[in-house]
Amino acid sequence: MTARVIDGVALAATIRQDVAMRSAALKAQGTQPGLAVILVGSDPASQVYVRNKVTACQQAGLYSVMEQYPVTMSQQELLARIQALNVDPAIHGILVQLPLPPHMDAHQVIEAIAAEKDVDGFHISNAGLLMTGKPLFRPCTPYGIMKMLEAEQVPLRGAVAVVVGASNIVGKPMAMLLQSAGATVTICNSKTRDLAWHTGHADIVVVATGRARMIDGSMVKPGAVVIDVGIHRTPEGKLCGDVDYESVRQVASAISPVPGGVGPMTIAMLLVNTIEAAERAQHNKAT
Ligand code: GUN
Repeated sequence: MTARVIDGVALAATIRQDVAMRSAALKAQGTQPGLAVILVGSDPASQVYVRNKVTACQQAGLYSVMEQYPVTMSQQELLARIQALNVDPAIHGILVQLPLPPHMDAHQVIEAIAAEKDVDGFHISNAGLLMTGKPLFRPCTPYGIMKMLEAEQVPLRGAVAVVVGASNIVGKPMAMLLQSAGATVTICNSKTRDLAWHTGHADIVVVATGRARMIDGSMVKPGAVVIDVGIHRTPEGKLCGDVDYESVRQVASAISPVPGGVGPMTIAMLLVNTIEAAERAQHNKAT
């Protein structure tokens, strides 16, 4: 079997077109959706991610500001900046790019963002709403993966799903969304015994470990759907994921590539979350 390739670029383009239409409709009602993206420090990968997010916003007709601060910024200064954005009516979404410098406490920073502007969905109240089945914002990467599974018409009710990686950004919210859709979900982590047994029994495998090519074809059930969240640069200068693409595509029924899979979907869903935040603000203004 050779797996179908799940085209995240094409699906993201469709979603971004829909966001552009909703953005134009909001503008006609007097609200231009606005996103503020904050980057502290000069991590090269984060700089690329943040620039891509801001460019995608502009292309979809959203207002966006990128605020870049030196690594020497104090946490107090960052909190003051967030508080100003929380009450700025032109801003509907606030994103603080992670990781933050070691002298900052990411939890405290995320909790300072107004929950109704937390377009990453990382605030504790948004995590709680997701866990109890009433999400306000779904974290962008897991949300994008759900859209990919939906577009591929992957059955979720009763499916066995394994999420490899238990981060607050991807693994845990991913498991919640799959579970809410009726899948039976196992979250594996770096200490899981016999990881290959777990992945090898799954209909759906989502891999977000941050370790290059750690899931290969021998660890995947024939016909499974495999979603790769990782992105790494190989010693030869090419990009690869957490999944060994060449061996897994011989076994899986569908696979998301790196690049061109989850990455573009994460950005598209950030735009969706921002437009939803702006639509809610417009609704509250009108009522
Ligand atoms: N760092 C890596 N992924 C993300 C993300 O989705 N949001 C933020 N804010 N930082 C990240």
